[in-house]
Amino acid sequence: MILGHKVPTSGEFTLNDLPGTAGRIDVLCRAVGAALFVSHGIRTDTEVVLLVQDAVQIRIAGDRVKRLNPDERSTAAILQLALRGAAAEEVETTPGVVAAQASLSQVLDRLYQIEAHPIVLHEHGDPVDQFPFPENPAFILSDHLDFTEADEATLADLPRISLGSMTLHTSQCITILHYLLDRDEGDTSADLVLCHKVWGEPKARLITGLLEDFGIPANLMSHAVPSLYPGMLDGLGEVRIMVRPRDLERARAIIGDYFEQPVDE
Ligand SMILES: C[S@@+](CC[C@H](N)C(=O)[O-])C[C@H]1O[C@@H](n2cnc3c(N)ncnc32)[C@H](O)[C@@H]1O
Repeated sequence: MILGHKVPTSGEFTLNDLPGTAGRIDVLCRAVGAALFVSHGIRTDTEVVLLVQDAVQIRIAGDRVKRLNPDERSTAAILQLALRGAAAEEVETTPGVVAAQASLSQVLDRLYQIEAHPIVLHEHGDPVDQFPFPENPAFILSDHLDFTEADEATLADLPRISLGSMTLHTSQCITILHYLLDRDEGDTSADLVLCHKVWGEPKARLITGLLEDFGIPANLMSHAVPSLYPGMLDGLGEVRIMVRPRDLERARAIIGDYFEQPVDE
């Protein structure tokens, strides 16, 4: 979701002046492009929500939108139609684009209803590396301006993540978020690798808890050897801590700092 603070809610602006009288609608158009376009295609699993001046919500569904092109002017024309057509109830103003009057709290309520997990993007948030993305994340960004005080108050209880100390353009943040999500998706199907072996599940759970605090998901694999240890109790066998290949080095360093040098053979 992108909060636009200056775009006229009436839709009354000229397409010849997107950064001026259209209230930096060019920023929103680039954000829409970054969220939905890939080379020669569209992300059908993505929905973009624009909230204009805390008053009009425009939703663009990647799996249904038509006539969306990468240039800012034609996207602005689609948004202009949405703003002009917005009413109390949602109206489909062009295929896959619906508009309605709504406030930020109402938009958040809808996100909760569809079981999305809102997350605020902010330069001063927690480092993204330490934040495991939930299922169905809904990222909230501002336009060329900071969030207003009213925005901040409504968003205060949400998780807040940073992509680094450098302030980036909204569209750049969206591209990075897609990269991270695409990479996570690849990881779920990638093989996990052995990071460390310990004796006993309680200790293994302690270590995985620590890794998760650092944003590193880990799986446990029990590896009991009953013939060697006939008296062994459940949960006291060898447990293997498995992580994603890209987390291996950092996970091993964290375990080394807090517990012991990891054993991987
Ligand atoms: C251009 S910035 C907003 C204005 C900016 N605060 C400034 O002082 O110029 C656009 C939005 O992108 C997001 N953003 C920019 N840089 C970010 C970063 N390093 N980490 C997380 N979000 C960032 C925030 O949502 C921010 O409100």
